[in-house]
Amino acid sequence: MTSKRHVLKIALGLVAAASAAATFAADTGPIKIGLILPMTGQSASTGRQIDAAVKLWMAQHGDKIGGRKVEVILKDDGAVPDATKRLAQELVVNDKVTVLAGFGITPSALATAPIATQSKTPMVVMAAATSSITDASPFIVRTSFTLPQVTVGIADWAAKNKIRRAVTLVADYGPGFDAEKFFDSQFRLDGGKILDKLRTPLKSPDFAPVLQKVLDDKPDALFVFLPSGQGASFMKQFAERGLDKSGIRLIATGDVTDDDQLNDMGDVALGIVTSHHYSAAHPSAANKKFVAAFEAANKGMRPNFMAVGGYDGMRVIYKALEATKGAGGQAMLDAMKGQIFESPRGPVLIDAQTRDIVQDVYIRKVERVPSMGNQLYNVEFDVIKAVKDPGKTK
Ligand code: DHB
Repeated sequence: MTSKRHVLKIALGLVAAASAAATFAADTGPIKIGLILPMTGQSASTGRQIDAAVKLWMAQHGDKIGGRKVEVILKDDGAVPDATKRLAQELVVNDKVTVLAGFGITPSALATAPIATQSKTPMVVMAAATSSITDASPFIVRTSFTLPQVTVGIADWAAKNKIRRAVTLVADYGPGFDAEKFFDSQFRLDGGKILDKLRTPLKSPDFAPVLQKVLDDKPDALFVFLPSGQGASFMKQFAERGLDKSGIRLIATGDVTDDDQLNDMGDVALGIVTSHHYSAAHPSAANKKFVAAFEAANKGMRPNFMAVGGYDGMRVIYKALEATKGAGGQAMLDAMKGQIFESPRGPVLIDAQTRDIVQDVYIRKVERVPSMGNQLYNVEFDVIKAVKDPGKTK
């Protein structure tokens, strides 16, 4: 009996020693950020932009928090949701990351949400923008935007600017459904009429058939949402099919006139009016500093809205880790909620209730800007202040 108790005592002692060692290692070892991005495939520009922004943040703010090293583990999911989920699981279980971040497209974010919930790992969505994503796990915080948030503004602008009849064209998945729904309801509320609702596949879309349909419908305007990376090929087909000379106005969310591709689109893009939360031409001191540093570190590459989502995501992560001394879990999540700061895009808030970002949405027009190298930019001419995601049902 005595010897049995003795053995048990030793065993418990070993367990306690092991867990003390683990705690010690956790408190002094690196704080790991698992960054999952599409570095290859159709959404690779999103990965390239966010990766560059994360590196810029760390070059500017250091790789130490409370004396501990911060380590970013970058994984390429190719925007394949099954891969995103598997990589997230490996990062949590094997690498013991404190926080997951990235998520280039909605299906990747949704596939990973259960892992964040089960492991109580905060998950910072830096790109994906379907409204419902933050409802998929209480551990999700978003620093990008939502499609309802940026769509209502352009619908209002259209109705106030002699556009009475519109056709919508969206990518056939989550963010496209949000854009279509919120454009439709706002535009009709404002007295407009929707003639047609067209959709193109997320993967390798061919725009020729839908553009022919738009020519046949003869609306006053075509409203478009396509994910980052598809704008240039869309504009090429838009011009090839003669829509630029048809008198049909092109309006869109800023995903279409993406700063990553805009300057290469040429004159066909001139005059497109969009609503969005970020333009590289946003005229604040903070943004000018951000754009100059980003371009200097990346051979002149212009940051787009994805880069800003990544940069601000790192801000939210760093401030939370500083506040909790790298604790992770629920404490880190709580320290992310309610953060208010000036982003390169303007003032932002991480809404403590919804864990989604509240931000200004700008109405912009594509122009050549003589003072900025005569390049094409989305020039902001109106602003809707502090827009909450209109897609939230709770
Ligand atoms: C999503 C992806 C994009 O590239 C974009 O511009 C908007 C939304 C998404 O999948 O959520």
